[in-house]
Amino acid sequence: MTQAPIRTLPMLGITHGNRNPVTCHLRCGDACAKPIPNQSGAPSFRDVAAGALSRRSALGGALVLSVAAATLSESEAAAATGNNLTFGAIAPATADIDQVRVPAGYRWDPIVRWGDPLFVGAPNLTAAGTDPAAQEQQFGYNCDYLDVLPDRGSTTRGVLVANHEYTNENIMFAPDADPALVARTAMAAHGFSVVELRRSGAGKRWSYVVGGRRNRRITATTPFTLDGPAAGSELLKTAADTTGRRALGTLNNCSGGTTPWGTIVSGEENFNQYFLCTGDEREARYGLGPDGDERGWRTVDPRFDATGSAYRNEPNRFGWVVEIDPENPRSTPVKHTAMGRFKHEGANITIDAATGKAVAYMGDDERFDYLYKFVSKGTFDGSGTAAARAANKRLLSAGDLFVARFTGDGLEDGINDGTGIWIPLTRGGRSMVPGMTIDEVLVYTRLAADKVAATPMDRPEDVQPSPKSGRIYVACTNNSKRGATGLPGIDEANPRPANKDGHIVEITEIGGAHTGTRFRWNLFLICGDQSSAGTYFGGYTGPVSPISCPDNLAFDSRGNLWISTDGQPSAIGLDDALHCVEVAGRLRGRVRQFLSVPVGAETCGPVIHDRDGSVFVAVQHPGEDGSWEAPQSHFPDYGSGVFAGPRPSVIQVTRR
Ligand code: FEO
Ligand code: CA
Ligand code: CA
Repeated sequence: MTQAPIRTLPMLGITHGNRNPVTCHLRCGDACAKPIPNQSGAPSFRDVAAGALSRRSALGGALVLSVAAATLSESEAAAATGNNLTFGAIAPATADIDQVRVPAGYRWDPIVRWGDPLFVGAPNLTAAGTDPAAQEQQFGYNCDYLDVLPDRGSTTRGVLVANHEYTNENIMFAPDADPALVARTAMAAHGFSVVELRRSGAGKRWSYVVGGRRNRRITATTPFTLDGPAAGSELLKTAADTTGRRALGTLNNCSGGTTPWGTIVSGEENFNQYFLCTGDEREARYGLGPDGDERGWRTVDPRFDATGSAYRNEPNRFGWVVEIDPENPRSTPVKHTAMGRFKHEGANITIDAATGKAVAYMGDDERFDYLYKFVSKGTFDGSGTAAARAANKRLLSAGDLFVARFTGDGLEDGINDGTGIWIPLTRGGRSMVPGMTIDEVLVYTRLAADKVAATPMDRPEDVQPSPKSGRIYVACTNNSKRGATGLPGIDEANPRPANKDGHIVEITEIGGAHTGTRFRWNLFLICGDQSSAGTYFGGYTGPVSPISCPDNLAFDSRGNLWISTDGQPSAIGLDDALHCVEVAGRLRGRVRQFLSVPVGAETCGPVIHDRDGSVFVAVQHPGEDGSWEAPQSHFPDYGSGVFAGPRPSVIQVTRR
């Protein structure tokens, strides 16, 4: 069969957003070059005059301080961070630096790299790369969400879970590689890896175990169960699955979360780029259309051609939150239809103290899309028994889905803040949206949210509840189109036109009730270089590290927020980074850079084991603007390995 020209890069040199051209093409399907999927005309806030910025923001912007001044003493840092993870902020690296940089006194080491064998007898990556059969037994490509879970009661054994968002064919394969082999290998490089870990003691470096009992690969062809109210719907049936309850594979898994019951959830994000579609109105709302099919997978698997009747609904089987159980490698992973279908960045789950219900906070990462939450019908059982765990694994199968509307209270108070409501889309297993069935609300959640006038946000990505305060933090990465002609203008929650640097919203549920429908909010950070007008750092007026394009969020045991970035190179000319910021006390808003990742990479999946003195990140798409013949990055082997090009990897940062 012939293969679509996957190496064609139509966006090269003409990207409009903050991404480099290769990322635009391979991850987002050139979203920037295409119409904004949200053409619903949902009203944005109109209570803010165009161009207005908060007085506090302007004040923050007036404080021009050098990057060098942002480097703080370790003793000062110790005041707020965990005792085993004090550090002095590093200087940012310019965007062409092919290094991982960490604070003085720390070192970094890869734990597992793309192509590392996970099973006994599995092949290693070679100079020629890999192939479908080998890749199914090797660590996948472009690791994004990450967790490192020590076994209960052990400091020397654990398990690592990472997902694999997408593939960079231009640096994975030789130019003359067989296109069908490329497609099948790429399918095997997507999904998840579960890998057992071992080490000699607390504070030491972890290494992965070849052939660990729990080791597992999940790929683009692994069977999943579709559960929840839309399972079995006509909208989910295909020629290959007339039940509408069994989907093959997971695609474009971006961020995620680890549930209180020990499973991993992850969001299927830019799934549109894998399918050829006719592009009707409902498909277009998801960016699906005749110019999709960026990867040409339909040449090796007909279900990726959704233009005919047989697989018309195949794209509807992606865009979900998936849940996998890392403890049981034989378990069937699940796609939860109760949590809605959109370009899920991820899901982060907390247990509501008063009711015991599980509440998941979720962003839909597209310009002018929405913030959601899901409230489970059932309640969490923390007794720790096998029966309790089995029951907890059903919590995401039934519940109510809400979307957020933000209202500003005006800028006379000098603060970007206001109130908000959670608008129900489903309740008690029924649709709350006039004219839409429950199946339609869950499969076409974006259209349902359009109807209830949710607030279009600047690409809401990771949404993280603080385990200390219960406040919820929303990373809005950027939105180059905010305020453009014919598109929503600025509002108090998205206050900058052509927002290139992003911001972080802080939400407080009224009465602390995660199950409630009313909240207060304020902007915690308005990102950028501190010298830029309009930036704001939680009220902190001392020196801070420059930060742009916040993406993934994590908390340490002290309640400090860690922010990884995706887009600093094109926004502020710096390699992407991991930053730590206090959210409370005298140092609230003090952003300090902890590490930077190599050229072309984004920082993903931060895991902060501050008591153990360890930080983990997934280094995704290093050197992706390079080519097979001329690698741009050599991370992490830097010439010591058999493969010449870069390898997306999970790294651990420890004390020297
Ligand atoms: Fe895959 Fe929204 O980043
Ligand atoms: Ca205000
Ligand atoms: Ca992300």
